[in-house]
Amino acid sequence: MYRTHTCGELRLKDVNKEVRLAGWVQTIRKFGSITFIDLRDRYGITQLLFNEKLTEELDKNPLGREFVVQVKGTVSERSNKNPNIPTGDIEINVSEYRVLNKSAVPPFTIQDDTDGGDDLRMKYRFLDLRRNPVKKNLELRYAVNRATRNYLYENGFVDIETPFLIKSTPEGARDFVVPSRMNPGEFYALPQSPQTFKQLLMVSGYDRYYQIVKCFRDEDLRADRQPEFTQIDCEMSFVEQEDILQMFEGLIKYIFKEVKNIDYTEPVERMSWEDAMWNYGNDKPDIRFDMKVKNLKSENKIFLETLKQTEFAVFNEAETIVAISVPGCSDYSRKQTDELVEWVKRPQIGMKGLAFIKVNNDGTLKSSFDKFFNESQLKDFASFCDSKPGDLILILAGKEERTRKAISDLRLYMADRLGLRKADEYKLLWVLDFPLFEYDEESNRWVARHHPFTSPKPEDIQVMINNNPLIENSEKYLEHPYSKIKANAYDMVLNGNEIGGGSIRIFQRDLQEKMFAALGMSKEEAQHKFGFLLGAFEYGAPPHGGIAFGFDRLCAILGGSESIRDFIAFPKNNSGRDVMIDAPSTIDEKQLDELQIKLDLK
Ligand code: AMO
Repeated sequence: MYRTHTCGELRLKDVNKEVRLAGWVQTIRKFGSITFIDLRDRYGITQLLFNEKLTEELDKNPLGREFVVQVKGTVSERSNKNPNIPTGDIEINVSEYRVLNKSAVPPFTIQDDTDGGDDLRMKYRFLDLRRNPVKKNLELRYAVNRATRNYLYENGFVDIETPFLIKSTPEGARDFVVPSRMNPGEFYALPQSPQTFKQLLMVSGYDRYYQIVKCFRDEDLRADRQPEFTQIDCEMSFVEQEDILQMFEGLIKYIFKEVKNIDYTEPVERMSWEDAMWNYGNDKPDIRFDMKVKNLKSENKIFLETLKQTEFAVFNEAETIVAISVPGCSDYSRKQTDELVEWVKRPQIGMKGLAFIKVNNDGTLKSSFDKFFNESQLKDFASFCDSKPGDLILILAGKEERTRKAISDLRLYMADRLGLRKADEYKLLWVLDFPLFEYDEESNRWVARHHPFTSPKPEDIQVMINNNPLIENSEKYLEHPYSKIKANAYDMVLNGNEIGGGSIRIFQRDLQEKMFAALGMSKEEAQHKFGFLLGAFEYGAPPHGGIAFGFDRLCAILGGSESIRDFIAFPKNNSGRDVMIDAPSTIDEKQLDELQIKLDLK
């Protein structure tokens, strides 16, 4: 028997017990003629005491960090207790030990605060995974997994696996493709999601389906995106939007309770997509704090009158002027406001500048454009922004889309600076009534904002059917009736992150065909790509809808981290590489021959 206990298990009550432990050497401290070794396994750390005789043996054949050893010994009370670890009251008086395996010197310290940089830790991920913080993340991931399965099981859902070697599913990214040896010249696509399969399962009558499943998307990566990631993918039949919102609000609240012991009892707030864009500049607003966006050019008549009387070109010529009132920052120094100006000028934000008004505590106002606005005009400005003494009003002016995005980023940045985005505070939000279509400038056509299986709001169906999708003047795409059509689609947002999205689906063949046509697909193309689904819709497809949650994202937020990589055992880096196994990599000539593929690298 290698071990009687784990390294996290023994306490004072075990004193005098004969035990065996096995694990990895964390640290070795020689103390005169005796040696202390911290032995580590998945469960914790236990101190080992090697007496004089055994220390002599160690001197002859030294142990090193990360050696795998087995020891036999007696539990004894420590004279010098360590209150920081659960086993800190005891140690093992070692009588025998055995080296089970040696270890090369690890390239970084296997400790909570490691000296290893990101790249090195990823290259040696199997060592990184020995570290406590990473282990905790994976345990949290499993807790979320268990809670999800419990809740869905309790609610009558069935876990059904769907294939990975499939035909393209359009979720807006590029496909990863896999050549077929048995069908030369033909390719499978890896699923961007199981979307079409779960809809087919509804046609088959499995009215509550779920799967915790890998999805594959060839897209540009960020902290919250991986090329392969996991979804909690769900679908239900005979449901309306409200049924889905209730069921999955329930799931997330259940996870909160099980994993974090948080009673999220209040109903999840709801907001239309339009309100989210207008008040936060963003379709996934962080509502843990207020600081709403003020839309000056479009709402404020006094402001518009004032503008006319001034010669401030930055404001006068701007398509959009937006502002936020940041509390408690009116005393910002010149250096601090300059910093903010530089921040908005960075290429990621892309603004030409930033204007501000300080609403001083004594009631006076000081702005960066005093030359153009008098005191009373500034007062109007501040009162429209609902500003209070102590506020710093930050104002951005420019092109609509960029400026709105920039004020949204600035809002989050300021909230971060002020510590308003607390990792242990959770605020859920449903964003509803998304537009059905999005205008794609490159191809001058409409693309599905969610995916092409999402149904339009009933009142908008005729608008879709009766209008030609053709966009004659790309500058004026907003005037096309399609830009106003709303979808039966919803996103769940947690602390400013989109953690899930779904929709009520189209379930009639003719409406689905019209949708494909609206997206510029010919009948033949629709048949080639989705003939199987259109065909299935002819055999009694029930009304259905669903949602998918980003499992990695949910875990990361619950674990208080920005990066989903910390919650994936073997993640890819930002170039989509697994630096540990060195993938992707070239393949043998023979494999290429079998696939009848010739490379023509540019
Ligand atoms: P959607 O594309 O919105 O919907 O994806 C659902 C959720 O998956 C997460 N997610 C990602 N997480 C990590 N890395 C990525 N590259 C990535 N892409 C998406 C997000 C997102 O909210 N089939 C539909 C769902 C449906 O309609 O039922 C779908 O996949 O948290």
